[in-house]
Parts: sequence; C-alpha cells; structure tokens
Amino acid sequence: MTDRLIGMSSRIAVVPGSFDPPTLGHLDVIRRAARLYDELHVVVVHNPDKAGMLPAAQRVSLLEQSIAEDEAMSGNVIVGAWSVGLLVDYAQEVGAGVLVKGIRSQVDVAYETPMAVVNRHLADIETVFLLPEPSHALVSSSLVRQVAGLGGDVSPYVPPAVSRFLARAGANDF
Ligand code: PNS
Repeated sequence: MTDRLIGMSSRIAVVPGSFDPPTLGHLDVIRRAARLYDELHVVVVHNPDKAGMLPAAQRVSLLEQSIAEDEAMSGNVIVGAWSVGLLVDYAQEVGAGVLVKGIRSQVDVAYETPMAVVNRHLADIETVFLLPEPSHALVSSSLVRQVAGLGGDVSPYVPPAVSRFLARAGANDF
C-alpha cells in the first residue's frame, strides 16, 4: 500500500465525466453505482480535449436536479466539480478508493482502458466499469449537443431537468 492510499476507502467511489450535458445513460450508471457504494461522488471534470457547451456550474446544477428528481436514486450521491489537477487528487480529497465509469461499447473500453491504467499507476486507485441499460447504449452527450443545437427534441435521451433546461435555452444558445 502506498502513502497515497492511506485514507482512501473502497466504500467511497467517484463517477467522473464531462456531463456536457448529463444524459439518461449517465443517470443510469450513477443510480447503479450509488447502490454499490456507501458514498458516491459525481464530479464534473474539465476535459482539456473537449471545448464544451455548458459551463461547469450549469452541469453541476443539472446533475443535482436530475439526481434529486430520480425516484429510484439512493440518497448517498454528492455532486462536485474539479478543474485543477489530476482526477486522482480529487478522489483522494474525498477519500474515494474507486473510480466508476460506464461502458457502452468496445469503443468505450478502448477509450477508458488507458485512463484506468494511468490512474492506477498514479494512485493505486481501481476503476470499476459498469454496463448501462442497453437502451442507453447509443446515447452520448455529443449527439445530444448536436440534436439540441439544431433544434431537435432530446427528451428521449436526457433527464427531465436537462430537457427543460435545453428547451428553455433554445437552439441558438449552442
Ligand atoms: O466524460 P469524459 O469527457 O469522457 O470524461 C473524461 C474525464 C474527464 C473523466 C478524463 O478526461 C479525466 O479523468 N480527466 C482528468 C485529468 C486526469 O486526471 N488525467 C490523467 C489520468 S487519465
């Protein structure tokens, strides 16, 4: 066990992501992870490879609303944001010993595997992959951004709070 692991619990987990915007697939993974861990931190992480549609504070607010409105969600979920430094530093700050990611396809496996290995090298932190409902397998934030930006209805793909927000904001805002 390294020094970095001290204080990190395998009963506390982090679900990181861009959540730009949160989708039903994200909520499904958060719901499943919340049942597996005592405390679950959902964190909006700045991804330098992605330009981004919504400000981080808006993504946090939409996640909080979506989680609060989800009747099947357990009450152990905390939403946060992280923009400076490594994801494992955030995990360490909240005492989490596990990262949780949703895997929709082989493409996600290829994208997530190097990050999982690097995070393990950095801090001995394990990544657990969860499979979302197959009905959510084709949903992605980028697709939602594109459809919403062109004025289409994204309500089948996002939680009601996100759908309301995007409808209010209007296509011209993206
Ligand atoms: O939803 P995304 O954009 O696929 O999430 C990717 C994210 C934000 C989780 C990933 O880019 C990340 O972990 N960024 C934090 C920076 C970091 O710690 N990098 C080194 C290990 S991968």
